[in-house]
Parts: sequence; structure tokens; C-alpha cells
Amino acid sequence: MEKRIIEDNLSYSAHLKIDGIHTFRELDSTNSEAMRILESGRNGIQLVVANLQTDGRGRRGRRWLSPKEQGLYMSLLHPFTCDVSALQALSLVSALSVHESLTGKNVPSLQLKWPNDLLIGKKKLAGILLELRTFDGVTYIIFGIGVNYSLGESQKSKIDRPVTDLAEMVSDIPGREEMVGTICSTLLMNIEKFIAEGFGSFQDSWNQYDFYYKSNVVITNGNHCQSGKSLGVNKDGALVLETSEGEKIISAGELLPSLKGAEESFG
Ligand code: BTN
Repeated sequence: MEKRIIEDNLSYSAHLKIDGIHTFRELDSTNSEAMRILESGRNGIQLVVANLQTDGRGRRGRRWLSPKEQGLYMSLLHPFTCDVSALQALSLVSALSVHESLTGKNVPSLQLKWPNDLLIGKKKLAGILLELRTFDGVTYIIFGIGVNYSLGESQKSKIDRPVTDLAEMVSDIPGREEMVGTICSTLLMNIEKFIAEGFGSFQDSWNQYDFYYKSNVVITNGNHCQSGKSLGVNKDGALVLETSEGEKIISAGELLPSLKGAEESFG
């Protein structure tokens, strides 16, 4: 990873905002490194990128397969003074930012799955893990972003869910440094907009790209499971589910396309 190429692809305003860019050949996890950087006393906005992760982490305690240079692995550490309850909406804002960045590089037919997966068809292209830390009385969010670049069939077969990568979808794949610079700039711009205007101005775009909008879905959270028709996200970023008992507002959980999927996920 060439730091200079990342810098060259940052917007002017991102350049001014970022306090440090840290590139590594190998890390356990860019999210873990971002936490170590915070705990070592560096504050402000920090970007961490690695060519490979030996212990990449996904949501719900899953692993994130991170072979060398076959994916993009980055974390953005960002201090926040806003209410922590905004975390839910920020997770959707981060997914929209990755969507906007990849679509801008001609990646076709990209859609979202609540809360923050990026799909092409029903296959996952990218995932985001948000982690929260408080240090010296300040709340920080770590936005951990993974994009599959060129996993190849052997790596894909190790993942127990349908996955895709950029190599399958685009002939002219943007370089990883270029992509990191673009995602980081878009995310910082959207965070600023979110702080100024709230989630309301992102709501329509999110619902427009939602793969499961107006579809029957199941939401699981621990052992709890609810089924209904997804009506998209509300102005706070929570999912609205039309159920037999009326509309339910869901603020956490995992969306599955069917009850069959839910049973498999418990099994
Ligand atoms: C998911 O489960 O969908 C979230 C996956 C997030 C993976 C990224 S890769 C960079 C960052 N470092 C990690 O250990 N995880 C995130």
C-alpha cells in the first residue's frame, strides 16, 4: 500500500481533516490497530490500511477472510461529540458512502442490505464493522471497511455465504489505494453532512438502494426472530417492519431473506 497514492486520492477537505495515515503490509485487524493507535494517545481522525489481515473481524463475531492484496482492508477512527444513539444511523451512512464511492468507479448494480452490507445480486461484495471506544472522555467510532477485490474461487469456497468480488464484476478495477482515498473522502464528507443535518437527508437514497425494500424478510437478534415486510428505514435509520401485529421499529439485528435462512443461522 503506497501512502502517497492514498494521499493523492483524498479530497482537499479530507486532506485537511485527517491527522494520520498508517499503512501496513500485515496486521491482525485494522480495527484493532486503530484502537491501539487511540490508546497510545493519538487523537483526531486516523486512517489505518493493511495489505492483509490475520485476524480480520466481521459483525456478530464472524471472521472476515483477508488474504494478501485480494481485498481492501481499512479503518477510519473518528471522534464524535454527538449522541451515541446516532451509531445506528452512522452505520447506514457508512454503507451509503462505500456505495457512492464504488458506484462512482463504475461498479454496477450495487445494492444495500440493512444495516450495512453491500450486495451485487444476492452476493456480498463488502461489509462494515463499526466499533465504539471512549478514551479520555471522548467517544470514538472505528469504521472498519472490507471490500472483496479478487478472492478467487478457492477463497470464496471457504466462506459459508454467497460472496462476490470486484474482479467478477468490473473489467477495469480501481487500485486499492485509489479506492481507499475515495472511500475515506466520501465517508468524511457524509459524516459532516450527518452531523449538520441528521439522517433525514440520507433516508431516501438508502431506501432506493435497499435490495430488500418491500420484500418479506426475517430479522434475528440473539434468539429473537421477527418476520414481516420491510418498509425500509425511517428518518432515524431504524428498519420499519410491517408485521401481523402492526408496524415494528427495529434498531438492531440481522436481516435474513427467509425463515429458512434464519433457521440455518441459528443452527
Ligand atoms: C461484516 O461482517 O460484514 C463486517 C466486515 C468488516 C471487515 C473489515 S476489514 C477492515 C476492518 N478490520 C476488521 O477486522 N474488520 C473490518
